[in-house]
Amino acid sequence: MSASPSRANEPEILVVPSILASDFGNLAQEVRDVSEAGADWIHLDVMDGNFVPNLTFGPPVIKAIHLHARIPLEAHLMVWHPNEYLDDLKSAGVDRVIVHQESDVHLNRLLDRIRTMGFSPGVAINPGTPVGHLEEVLDMVDLVLVMSVNPGFGGQSFIEGTLDKIARVRALRDARKGTFRIEVDGGIGSRNVARIVASGADTLVAGTAIFRNPPYRDAIERLRQAALSAIGQDK
Ligand code: DX5
Ligand code: ZN
Repeated sequence: MSASPSRANEPEILVVPSILASDFGNLAQEVRDVSEAGADWIHLDVMDGNFVPNLTFGPPVIKAIHLHARIPLEAHLMVWHPNEYLDDLKSAGVDRVIVHQESDVHLNRLLDRIRTMGFSPGVAINPGTPVGHLEEVLDMVDLVLVMSVNPGFGGQSFIEGTLDKIARVRALRDARKGTFRIEVDGGIGSRNVARIVASGADTLVAGTAIFRNPPYRDAIERLRQAALSAIGQDK
């Protein structure tokens, strides 16, 4: 797999821990620890108990996380009516907002507003959603998130068919010389990370593989090195 198009000052591979797998009883310390362990961003799974069958946290908790995070925050919104959360996510200190293609029929307007508000916009698709449903908004986003599990819970198994889907998103990016990052979320670990990156991903969300495998620095570095070796950029 050739190197991705140039993105000024951005590393080739980003490792993004999902706080969902952390110890919520010790959240401030978990956020500080993972920030200092070499993570690039922190991934925040906002679930409304309706778009997905689980309820997590929202802007007030994110505001508390922001106080302790030393790295940027991305909110992955698994909610209906994502537009209604944006003002509060802004006040909470979120840097990137990732919305599901399936969650709003006015995706163009939503992504436009996300950009105008000063967020970095991302768009996610569920395992059952065709890649083609993203085509009209690819020029509007900084990141495409390919879900490799059905969203709702951490600790699920990676869906193998996602590898081919990642390759199709990558082909679309290459064809239009796009610069959006290709992120994958769900079931990522050291056993499959090389194949995920070889298929075309460059941004890796991992919950269980990091928070359930301390020390965090080693877990993050293991993922990063496996990813870099898959694109021939290991040390
Ligand atoms: C699933 C979430 C993921 C999840 C990943 O709905 O979007 O971000 O936390 O967890 P692992 O890495 O444990 O599959
Ligand atoms: Zn997520």
